[in-house]
Amino acid sequence: MQHAERQRILEPLRLGREQLLEVKRRLEEAMEQGLAKETHQQASLKMLPTYVRATPDGTEHGDFLALDLGGTNFRVLLVRVRSGKKRSVEMHNKIYSIPQETMQGTGEELFDHIVQCIADFLEYMGMKGAVLPLGFTFSFPCQQRQLDQGILLRWTKGFKATGCEGEDVVTLLKDAIRRKEFDLDVVALVNDTVGTMMTCGYEDPLCEVGLIVGTGTNACYMEEVRNVELVEEDEGRMCVNMEWGAFGDGGELDELCAEFDRVVDESSNNPGKQRYEKMISGMYLGEIVRNVLLEFTAKGLLFCGKPTERLKTRGIFETKFLSQIESDRLALRQVRSILQHLGLTSSTCDDSILVKEVCGVVSRRAAQLCGAGLAAVVDKVRRNRGLEHLRITVGVDGTLYKLHPHFSGILRETVLDLAPGCEVSFLQSEDGSGKGAALITAVACRMRDAAK
Ligand code: BG6
Ligand code: GLC
Repeated sequence: MQHAERQRILEPLRLGREQLLEVKRRLEEAMEQGLAKETHQQASLKMLPTYVRATPDGTEHGDFLALDLGGTNFRVLLVRVRSGKKRSVEMHNKIYSIPQETMQGTGEELFDHIVQCIADFLEYMGMKGAVLPLGFTFSFPCQQRQLDQGILLRWTKGFKATGCEGEDVVTLLKDAIRRKEFDLDVVALVNDTVGTMMTCGYEDPLCEVGLIVGTGTNACYMEEVRNVELVEEDEGRMCVNMEWGAFGDGGELDELCAEFDRVVDESSNNPGKQRYEKMISGMYLGEIVRNVLLEFTAKGLLFCGKPTERLKTRGIFETKFLSQIESDRLALRQVRSILQHLGLTSSTCDDSILVKEVCGVVSRRAAQLCGAGLAAVVDKVRRNRGLEHLRITVGVDGTLYKLHPHFSGILRETVLDLAPGCEVSFLQSEDGSGKGAALITAVACRMRDAAK
């Protein structure tokens, strides 16, 4: 009886193959809408041109600064790229914190803080006063008309600093640099997916897709320029930042969403937005789990039917706990001690089994949905090139992908199943997206110098 009741609650979170194929099909449709001039405005996938036209070829060279803003950590980096026989990339970086009140204060405060961190970094590196070309990884949706400009369409994830949406973030950065009375040469604005694709592309020339599964989720890929209708050119390829987290904002996922998804969406920073992201990424999975556990408790199936204040508290289940709870090496006793650590003290052994099952169902669905999206992307690349069979590498970054014990395996399985014409390899980025941003900056500097 209890078993049946448990399964009834979990049922809406289990997806079958047909449903996943439908997600893939709808995502393909949404990609076309985002790329076409006529439908771009109302499309949920923005399919943003990035003005990055090629993956690295080893000729990149020079010293660069890079910023990496929008993931778990804010980093400032010095990247030394050497071309030729001794081709190498040497990186130095420092992590800075961005206090919650700065993320959600005014834009001026946020950008002043960023510039303060750059100044501190240059001093730390003994390079005070150096004017190096800078690549800015900014992991939010930006409408670009060139590489060194980008209008922030809207904040996503935990950010909501005022006065930034609708503004060019490179100008906001340059204004803050001016206020600090120093000089920097901002050359490229880069999404983290793009930076990741370039980082991995330096190792593997087949890498033409970038994927992030971390705080948020998103993907980019090399598209034929003739299909990117917002760009008035026809030759060659350009990397497109899909902003796929917003898939579903036009109702595409409504039938798949469970009640838990609606609750998580409604209590988020940005209700109605980033619906696909909210079913997949680290910032939200713990909240889905918590809401499922609340339902189990309300039905008397968990924690003796008594929801503690802790369980009612938003954000207690960080991704790292999900990853730990799902680890196969962990004995139930240890699951119990994690729950106790979270303040859910009355848990029994049965409770631990159930919590583990809930985490498994939620993260499996996330990986499958992500896989259906990725299958749509690689299949599009295959069709673009008129191939029956495509070999392609996906460069991946993000704490959920890296830390979760099963996510990457389920993702891989799903892509294999839903895109049988594609042989997809996954390359995990170990160097972050700053390295890729520096490589993009290197190419832009070379072209700028050649045009002089
Ligand atoms: C980092 C990249 O490694 O991964 C960032 O350098 C990216 O650019 C981040 O945003 C994504 O993962 P998370 O989990 O930190 O959001
Ligand atoms: C969010 C951002 C997107 C970013 C992703 C991963 O979806 O909108 O730009 O790539 O998070 O960090």
